[in-house]
Amino acid sequence: MIKNICCIGAGYVGGPTMAVIAKNCPGIKIDVVDIDINRIKAWNSSDLKCLPVFEPGLEEIIKECRGKNLNFSTDIKKGIENADVIFISVNTPTKLNGLGAGYASDLKWIESCARQIAEFLKGHTIVVEKSTLPVKTAETIKNILDSSQFIGSNTKNKSEKKTFTIISNPEFLAEGSAINDLQNPDRVLIGGEDEFSISKISCIYENWVDPQKIIITNLWSSELSKLVANAFLAQRISSINSISALCESTGAKIQEVSRAIGADKRIGNKFLNSGPGFGGSCFKKDILNLVYLSRFYGLHEVADYWEQVVKINLWQQKRIYSLVIKNLFGTVSNKKLAIFGFSFKANTNDTRESPTIEISRDLLQEGATLTFYDPKVKEVQIVNELKDIECEGNWFYCKTSFEAAEGADAVLILTEWEEFKNIKWSNLYNIMRKPAWIFDSRNYIDSNSLKNIGFNVWTVGNP
Ligand code: NAD
Ligand code: UGA
Repeated sequence: MIKNICCIGAGYVGGPTMAVIAKNCPGIKIDVVDIDINRIKAWNSSDLKCLPVFEPGLEEIIKECRGKNLNFSTDIKKGIENADVIFISVNTPTKLNGLGAGYASDLKWIESCARQIAEFLKGHTIVVEKSTLPVKTAETIKNILDSSQFIGSNTKNKSEKKTFTIISNPEFLAEGSAINDLQNPDRVLIGGEDEFSISKISCIYENWVDPQKIIITNLWSSELSKLVANAFLAQRISSINSISALCESTGAKIQEVSRAIGADKRIGNKFLNSGPGFGGSCFKKDILNLVYLSRFYGLHEVADYWEQVVKINLWQQKRIYSLVIKNLFGTVSNKKLAIFGFSFKANTNDTRESPTIEISRDLLQEGATLTFYDPKVKEVQIVNELKDIECEGNWFYCKTSFEAAEGADAVLILTEWEEFKNIKWSNLYNIMRKPAWIFDSRNYIDSNSLKNIGFNVWTVGNP
């Protein structure tokens, strides 16, 4: 019986995933540990609005389980010592420098995690890769743990041999729907060589997941499947975005095309919404990782094929920025543009790789003044995301959509927040400079009603 779980990394995956396990497994005690003291403080905040991750449904679970079988702490040593199972859920961003820079995953956080585990491990422990990792990372973790089997601060004599097995159990949650995805997953993937450990991890999920949905594979298939799943999803977005440009040129309408092709069960109707390109911390980094792996194994055509998905994504963002400039008489210098939405998608406060960043950078470099409004993103996040931009223009953080749109020449809808649907667009029109433009990169607001108010409207994928 698994009694104690430790999760290393209290981020967008570690926090929600452990919250859902805690809710469904009241008999298991879970410690979520992190080196980031401020993040842990935020997880322990009495005001649930201050949790570091915004996800619909998360606050309720934290309220129910925190302090009972779910604890957030910086005491990594204690967490590891007590654990029967350790989930590694730390960040694995793209390497910025050195060998493989721009493509390979930076595994320094994984390595430091493995070293912490090696130092504090007690007895037999199942080490689970929850982070998304390059294929064969389990071997690296194993090497580090192997080399410390007898030494360590908590092992007094050699008979106290520390033993471990490594399991891959990648996470498929999407931000904004994380709690629902965790509660009702399409599948749970468990990869490993040791049947006993696999069955232990499977048992945790069987508390709420239909066993038929639990897929067991070898370690390498599991690690690779996670990268491939993200690559396929991102590929659909780049495919539909490439077609959005063709629609704009030919008179076809992207939503009609999406509907027509999505009705074919073999294609399916999900993930066919054209937009400003995919954002988020994972799609780009995971594809680049796949590209790196393919090149590493000499599969250059495979690498080039997948890299194109990332190239089209950036192209779509550049295309939208250019269209804004073109429609605003070729210049945005000294013009005010209101940006609605900074998170990379709705229902999350995550801004990592948000298309808003790239589009804003280009507009600021053209000399525009930008006003940002996002229902969940804080000013400090925008400061961080835009701090490296050298530009002519400047930007302001606004607390309401109306404050952002006051005197603006255009509104750019970049994130599909539900509340944008409820804006009194006719009132907003009245406070903007004319001609007033709406650039709806998500086809989110009914364009006919906007046109009837008097707006000039551009929507993605429409003639
Ligand atoms: P994150 O940056 O939000 O969280 C990672 C946390 O790990 C940080 O708080 C960091 O301080 C902590 N950390 C790093 N090294 C540590 C160490 N040695 N000891 C203790 N804590 C440490 O990242 P995330 O979005 O939660 O992603 C984590 C992993 O899960 C990544 O590999 C990502 O690709 C994968 N993933 C993410 C998502 C998602 O929606 N964000 C979904 C599926 C998979
Ligand atoms: C994605 C995957 O969906 C998850 O399965 C995976 O676990 C996760 O990455 C990960 O590994 O991090 P996430 O990035 O959180 O989840 O959100 P998605 O819903 O996949 O959206 C990604 C981006 O694609 C967003 O910018 C979104 O706006 C965009 N998108 C999505 C579109 O432009 N069109 C669509 O039809 C769907």
